[in-house]
Amino acid sequence: MVDISVEIAGIKFRNPVLTAAGPPSRNGQVLVEAARGGAGGLVAKTISVEAAKVPRPNMALIDRGELLSFMLLTLHSRLVSVSRSMVKIPRGMLNTELWSDIPYQQWLEKEYKIAKGAGLPVIASVGYTADELRKLGPEVEKAGVDGIEFSTHYIEYDPKPLVEVAKALRESVEIPIFVKLSPHVVNIEMFAKAVEKYVDGVVAINSLGPCLYIDVETGKPLLGGKNGYGWLSGPAIKPLAVRCVADIARTVKKPVIGVGGVMSGRDAIEFFMVGASAVQICTGAILEGPKIYGQVAKEIQEFLKNHGYDSIEDIKGIALKYLPEKPLRTHPKPPKLYEELCKGCGLCVTSCVYGALKLVEDAKSGKLIVSIDEKKCDGCGLCTSICPTRALKFE
Ligand SMILES: Cc1cc2nc3c(=O)[nH]c(=O)nc-3n(C[C@H](O)[C@H](O)[C@H](O)COP(=O)(O)O)c2cc1C
Repeated sequence: MVDISVEIAGIKFRNPVLTAAGPPSRNGQVLVEAARGGAGGLVAKTISVEAAKVPRPNMALIDRGELLSFMLLTLHSRLVSVSRSMVKIPRGMLNTELWSDIPYQQWLEKEYKIAKGAGLPVIASVGYTADELRKLGPEVEKAGVDGIEFSTHYIEYDPKPLVEVAKALRESVEIPIFVKLSPHVVNIEMFAKAVEKYVDGVVAINSLGPCLYIDVETGKPLLGGKNGYGWLSGPAIKPLAVRCVADIARTVKKPVIGVGGVMSGRDAIEFFMVGASAVQICTGAILEGPKIYGQVAKEIQEFLKNHGYDSIEDIKGIALKYLPEKPLRTHPKPPKLYEELCKGCGLCVTSCVYGALKLVEDAKSGKLIVSIDEKKCDGCGLCTSICPTRALKFE
């Protein structure tokens, strides 16, 4: 089997699939279960000087109509892991959970020790101001954790407060520290650059919002926080997270950890290809339980083996060279059809807004295959991403 262990800022992880701050890391025992489920490292729920008063209800799956197909896909995907990634359902979750409602003293005395008992590296997550981190940082370090992630959910426009917090923590502790960035900032790589010299790694992204979801059966929001607002996570934010990781990885030299919508090994591979050294999972573990960490790790191993790679290093950042500063081209060019791969499913025909695709009977085999009207084709490329067998490709 391919070795997928990674070392980040001197911390050795048996695999690159870590827990993320959230309900699946809410106390020591749950972190032990994550380790049993196959996680490579344990990032704990964010603590602060005051225990949070968490609004209720505070979690909701949006797109309930998609739940059944999600469950079916999950079942199937365990057998055929590729099917889940190919059917792109923008599932998402909203939450208004805040930070830990367990007093930090309990984390110091009990929860981190229980988590450490699992034998994996434990990273504490601490919020939020410079003064709070100056106080909590050394105490958390004394509790024996291997690193500290600091959460910056509420910083939006100006990197100065973030730099202050990073500096305060850097001056207070010796162990590796990681900044976790929010996607709300105008220019995420500028924020990463601003704190680079104080941190040992960058984690991106936190959940996105605030968002609002109304249950049309009741006319009410699903969540019980201020204004019914919630923060979006899960597969719906993965493209945003991948873009943020790519921008950060291109800008800073410190390791980047990707988080946002990882549900499968292929999702994790996408993050590695834009420069991530590891991934974290929150929503996936809420919806599928702690076994997801081990499953994603196994799928990463299988992907690397099946594609002839020896390690994560082999694929780290390989997509970055394909992210051009200017558009590749602006003139239309039809994709090429690989007839032998076409199953005649017609998915591309339905979604071709230019009417350039139709199903025809193949003279030789008699089976239905797609045919391209090159005059009508606008070269938009949608069909190449829709075709489940990759029968349509740009050369
Ligand atoms: C219910 C819930 C609670 C969360 N709590 C925290 C938290 O305490 N601290 C933090 O930094 N991020 C928190 N997050 C954000 C996640 O760690 C993660 O960054 C985000 O959800 C994107 O990853 P995902 O799509 O795998 O969930 C929370 C997310 C959810 C869904």
